[in-house]
Amino acid sequence: MSILVNQQQFHLTNGKISYIFHVLKNGQLGHLYFGKALRERDYRHFQRTNNPTPASCHTYEDDAAFSLETIQQEYPVYGKGDFREPAFMVSGEKPIANFVYKSYEVVKGKPRLKDLPATYATSGEAETLFVVLEDSYQQVELELSYTIFENEAVIARNARLINKTDVEISIDRMMSLSVDLPHADMEMVHLSGTWARERHVKTRKLEQGIQSISSIRGASSHHHNPFLALKTPDATEHTGEVLGFQFVYSGNFLAQAEVDHYDVTRVQMGIHPLGFQWKLRSGESFQTPEALMVYSDQGMNGMSQTFHRLYRHQLIREQWKYKERPILINNWEATYFDFNEEKLLHFAKEAKELGVELFVLDDGWFGKRNNDRSSLGDWTVDLEKLPDGIASLAKKVKSTGLQFGLWFEPEMISPDSHLFREHPEWAIGIPGEHVTLGRNQRVLDYTRAEVVDYIFDRMKAIIEATNLDYIKWDMNRNITEAYSAGLEHQGEFFHRYILGVYDLYERLTSEFPNVLFESCAGGGGRFDPALLYYAPQTWASDDTDAVERLKIQYGTSMAYPIYSMGSHVSAVPNHQTLRETPLSMRADVAYFGTFGYELDPSSLSDEEKEIVKAQIKRYQSLRHLVRDGEFIRLQSPFESNETAWMIVSTDQKEAIVGWYKASSTPNPRTNQSVKLRGLDSDYGYQVDGDTYYGDELMQHGLPLPIEFNGANGEQAERGGDFQSKVFYLKAE
Ligand code: DGJ
Repeated sequence: MSILVNQQQFHLTNGKISYIFHVLKNGQLGHLYFGKALRERDYRHFQRTNNPTPASCHTYEDDAAFSLETIQQEYPVYGKGDFREPAFMVSGEKPIANFVYKSYEVVKGKPRLKDLPATYATSGEAETLFVVLEDSYQQVELELSYTIFENEAVIARNARLINKTDVEISIDRMMSLSVDLPHADMEMVHLSGTWARERHVKTRKLEQGIQSISSIRGASSHHHNPFLALKTPDATEHTGEVLGFQFVYSGNFLAQAEVDHYDVTRVQMGIHPLGFQWKLRSGESFQTPEALMVYSDQGMNGMSQTFHRLYRHQLIREQWKYKERPILINNWEATYFDFNEEKLLHFAKEAKELGVELFVLDDGWFGKRNNDRSSLGDWTVDLEKLPDGIASLAKKVKSTGLQFGLWFEPEMISPDSHLFREHPEWAIGIPGEHVTLGRNQRVLDYTRAEVVDYIFDRMKAIIEATNLDYIKWDMNRNITEAYSAGLEHQGEFFHRYILGVYDLYERLTSEFPNVLFESCAGGGGRFDPALLYYAPQTWASDDTDAVERLKIQYGTSMAYPIYSMGSHVSAVPNHQTLRETPLSMRADVAYFGTFGYELDPSSLSDEEKEIVKAQIKRYQSLRHLVRDGEFIRLQSPFESNETAWMIVSTDQKEAIVGWYKASSTPNPRTNQSVKLRGLDSDYGYQVDGDTYYGDELMQHGLPLPIEFNGANGEQAERGGDFQSKVFYLKAE
């Protein structure tokens, strides 16, 4: 890993990738290259531009070729002759900036970002380049930061603006990342959807103009994940070049690819400029969140595996990154709001007998919360439901040998709550004006330190009283009427809100490092890398239907390690789709995530209980692979009726393969198999008593059980809808 600086050319490389830019003749930064590693040399010839047409503007009278319209740039500004979208916009007395190169510094490791979650690295794991630019129009400095990691094909970027003038300035747009790629013959892949069908894989061809995904909901959202990839048209899951981009942020974001009239593609990622205006007083600085860029020459899987390893080793907080996650049972779909202590203790006892490790009490244990119309903010136990209190319930649950977890929705307030009656000003909204509700609730004003302090104290008291093992942090509505009476500049609202959320997470995880947090937002409405930093697992979706989960988990794995995906077996008919899938398929899908149950154990027959016990034992024996192994997508549920994926251990001696078929085929193919990947060609792998070599499993495939064809009743090993099997492979 090295950062080579030569005659104002900066070259970050680690043998896998190179990221190269330089100082242009006008002092601005020009982008030269991002991709597979290149040798050390001068690459300024990459910046070749044609003489612009008469319709273009050029910077110098005597150099018609120097036009910002045709130059690949590193952090473009508005108003200087580059007519594409800028990375930065300022307003005030001087509404145009002209950042010119001033200095650079290389440091070992990766300095932490103030008040923001980000990837981290020790001095041996990464090097960081800071490039300082100054605005030639006013005393404002821009510091661009680039980290290259020792072993991964990743560049982490962020930007910081420092106001050295005597006056206040306004930042109207400040992207975390901007990069100009020399061509546009690419497809954009993104993860989009809505509640109950989050992170479906969408692919579209780049065309001249802007193609973007974004959120202005105050959360990263169910609808678009802060991720995008650009792939060459011939790239597949396993081959070809892919660039992946992720934004380490949980609030409003914009991610876009702008193709200009010369087929240059500008990718940008950052806080959404809509509704954003940050006032920077004299002497203050503004720090953008982090954005990540990954290069893969091994298709989409190669990109995903890089994100997976990066998050596993350099993002998830220390205590949890390598720790096995408990198999949990959650009472939500089993009881909703209708429970009492007796019911819960019975539930816990039965769960323990099945082999479950953690009992999670979901919504409804506090205030007077018998439905979703009240009590958010009143974090005191409901003594009607739990007359001996929450500490006593926790103690009783723990005495069965289970760990104990609780649901909170810390950012919300019900209009019908003691907290709202005492502090109506703590709810977001324009005072005296109508406020839009979402799930009958309002949002607490996390831009106010006193609100964060109050919720911290309430949660701390409960964590201590219950000796809590786990928290599910939910967030069930988006932000409307974004206004805080406590704020001077409303354009700062959304970012300050998220900083408040991070502040609470930071304080809770620092004070209670051993509490496992699972983030949730009405299912997967805030599944992003920033929250993974605090909460190493995320409830992937409220949709627990096994067939739907194939798509959700497949899509989510594009950007996130499967060990970060909460995935549970729930009851049938499924509560979101009314579909009835077999218990075996529900577990076969849920094994590929942080496993758990979302059902009432007493509703299971004796036979089902035995099946569940076996499932739990199976997951316990596979859990190390889910945590440490390399996940490989084999067959996409978006392309056919069949899905397949696998995990291979890092030493290639073990693997598990998940194979699924959503609906049956009449008179199907006879010789059915699934081609595996990532194995050692020369190892003989035992599978269900047979031995196959790695090469045959990868070249010919793993044979699938014989399918019913209308006439082979005796011989058929599978048939009908909802078929699935999880294979375990062990090298001899
Ligand atoms: C939404 C979550 O996604 C569910 O799992 C559950 O916790 C409910 N909220 C509770 O209100």
